[in-house]
Amino acid sequence: MKKVMFGMIAGSALLLAACGGAEEAATPEAEAPAATETAEAPVVDAEIVAIIEARQDNLKEMGASMRAISESMRSGSPDAMLISEKADIIAGHAATMGDWFPAGSGPEAGVETEALPTIWENPEGFDEAVSNFQTAAVAFQTAAASGDMTATGGALRTLGGTCGACHDDFRVDDD
Ligand code: HEC
Repeated sequence: MKKVMFGMIAGSALLLAACGGAEEAATPEAEAPAATETAEAPVVDAEIVAIIEARQDNLKEMGASMRAISESMRSGSPDAMLISEKADIIAGHAATMGDWFPAGSGPEAGVETEALPTIWENPEGFDEAVSNFQTAAVAFQTAAASGDMTATGGALRTLGGTCGACHDDFRVDDD
């Protein structure tokens, strides 16, 4: 009975998270003491939590890099040095992304994450999305380093497409 109730609490937290309620999603932790009495509460694995938080930090840095690049490209006088530096950051993250989603680091980890279970249900599809992103990130890095802004703009559109393609299939749709 208590187990069922905890399931409902966790379920409503997921709904809130899906609606973009980042703050509300923290609430289940506050309610956790009642659930722990049953000894049925999910064990929050510190190592998994660290992995999830590290990947989210990396993804935030990629988002900030893409924003800075887009703003510079649109400014009328693109800063080739800045764009190339941000391209290096994105390519660096792309190279390791394949290690960011170990089994157990999905919604079942008990911490807030926008990673969808489809990542682990469709590993070939996810690997392909990572691989497409890696290829585009290297191509963009090369174009940005050349200082050719026409080539850089084209490679940026391709790169952005690979971010969106993965988010469509493997990330909670909250934007
Ligand atoms: C192969 C899949 C994949 C690719 C490629 C990808 N992402 Fe994501 N992204 C995800 C997933 C999954 C999450 C949710 C991660 C989580 O919450 O644990 C995410 C989350 C994010 C977030 C939110 C991070 C946070 O916690 O606030 C940002 C920002 C982001 N991605 C930007 C980008 C940008 C920019 C690119 C391309 C340059 C990109 N992503 C490419 C899968 C991908």
